[in-house]
Amino acid sequence: MPGRFITLEGGDGSGKSTQSALLTQWLEAAGHTVEHSREPGGTPLGLELRDIILHRRGYMAPRAEALLYAADRAHNIATKVRPAIERGEIVIQDRYIDSSVAYQGAGRVLDATEIRDLSLWASEGLLPDLTILLDLDPTVGRGRLEGKKYDRLEAEALDFHQRVREGYLALAAAEPDRFLVLPATDSIDAIAERIRERVQPLL
Ligand code: ADP
Ligand code: TYD
Repeated sequence: MPGRFITLEGGDGSGKSTQSALLTQWLEAAGHTVEHSREPGGTPLGLELRDIILHRRGYMAPRAEALLYAADRAHNIATKVRPAIERGEIVIQDRYIDSSVAYQGAGRVLDATEIRDLSLWASEGLLPDLTILLDLDPTVGRGRLEGKKYDRLEAEALDFHQRVREGYLALAAAEPDRFLVLPATDSIDAIAERIRERVQPLL
């Protein structure tokens, strides 16, 4: 496809939105057209789904949760991301398929292959050109969220978030060409520089 698709992954508070904003600014300053998206909630329908997924009180069956993320993904990819890539734009997105495999797979302990297949069905097989994993000890991520009201996933116990972290690292080890893994405790500027170095050859 003519454009590029770059995703940012990592636990809550790992710096995804900070780095996606910096990368977007850098690409736009170099004259590229950038579409920013995020999951859940990159589209108007996605915002409604986000509200249900993150703020619905009480128990949600893990498979229902997985399907809601997949529904958000299907709509985001079909109506926003794929059209932008086809126009030759660069899409920078906070969270994608690897979030589902890490959170619903490793976190909720659903079958990782089934979750990946569900996501790929939802997105009609779209995989990112590059995925930046900001790796962070969840206790540090928690500290960064201090003062913010936890959503339903952030409120999960530390062992859930430890499994998510391990799940991400296993994904990155299995696909080293697609992933760039960076320690999220490095400075914001140092991380941004490493990301730019890796993105430059894709342009
Ligand atoms: P995410 O989108 O992954 O949840 P954010 O980009 O919103 O994370 O960052 C969470 C908090 O951590 C913010 O207050 C942000 O300023 C801070 N932060 C981001 N990157 C770093 C970093 N490399 N070192 C220290 N603090 C950071
Ligand atoms: P996010 O938008 O990153 O939250 P915030 O804006 O508060 O940083 O993501 C919301 C939560 O959804 C986050 O805890 C991770 C979770 N999530 C999944 O469990 N599965 C998924 O497929 C996605 C995309 C997100």
